[in-house]
Amino acid sequence: MFSLDKRVALVTGAATGIGQIIAVHLCMAGTDIAISDKPGVSMKLTERLCRPYGRKVFKVEIDIRDISQIRSCIKRIEKEMDHIDILVNNAGINKYAPIRDVTLKNWDNHFNTNVRGGFFCAQAVLGKMIERQYGRIIFISSQSGLIGIPGQAVYCGTKGALVNMVRSMGVECAKYNITVNSIAPTFIETNFTRKRLKNKEFLAFVKGKIPCGKLAEREDVANAVVYLASEEAKMVNCHTLAVDGGWSAW
Ligand SMILES: NC(=O)c1ccc[n+]([C@@H]2O[C@H](COP(=O)([O-])OP(=O)(O)OC[C@H]3O[C@@H](n4cnc5c(N)ncnc54)[C@H](O)[C@@H]3O)[C@@H](O)[C@H]2O)c1
Repeated sequence: MFSLDKRVALVTGAATGIGQIIAVHLCMAGTDIAISDKPGVSMKLTERLCRPYGRKVFKVEIDIRDISQIRSCIKRIEKEMDHIDILVNNAGINKYAPIRDVTLKNWDNHFNTNVRGGFFCAQAVLGKMIERQYGRIIFISSQSGLIGIPGQAVYCGTKGALVNMVRSMGVECAKYNITVNSIAPTFIETNFTRKRLKNKEFLAFVKGKIPCGKLAEREDVANAVVYLASEEAKMVNCHTLAVDGGWSAW
């Protein structure tokens, strides 16, 4: 139903975890894809998983904390793929730290990765999107942008910032037929969360907060991305779509 045939997408943080499956689902829906991750992080598995769908797959290393790298790499992608229709700002970090342990370095690293990086990726793709009068910009926020989790004030701050940033960006971009939205997933087992979810007490707390008693899966987020990236979602703008099984509702 949600065909993205002939669209071109860029996914950041696509080497592993949620970003990897987002890239695969976008290819399944018909996009050519640029996959990116930090320099030195292998994207071979993502590339292999994307290939069977017969779409063009282009790998590019971008450390999204580095604005000049973002700008030059997005120019390279646009040269190779002509343009970018769909940007998925997925790369993110989360280092547990109670308030009194938060250092300036920890603060800057979170905000520069989770907020600043995605913003400047969006800024860099916007020129071509405006020229072509089409675009879909999707940030992977978190349920932690909608509710508070102890020991994660900085992470929650970054993800909450995205929830309001997409409101402003979406309003500004709407006249160009560009939508800007975010997705707020609950806990999913990835490298990001595996260690914490191994703690039985923490896992029981998490499952107790999700009304169906189950963690989400990477595919739940990827399906939401495909929807928001589609023509059918043209009237969904400035929105944060919770993929949290209802956690943030109570
Ligand atoms: N796993 C969860 O439970 C969960 C829940 C809600 C939201 N999220 C969000 O989903 C996104 C993906 O998380 P995940 O669980 O797949 O984590 P992950 O750690 O498996 O993947 C994150 C990817 O981002 C990349 N990355 C980190 N810093 C980067 C940088 N500076 N430049 C470029 N790439 C960088 C990593 O190399 C990695 O490939 C994150 O934004 C995270 O906040 C995750």
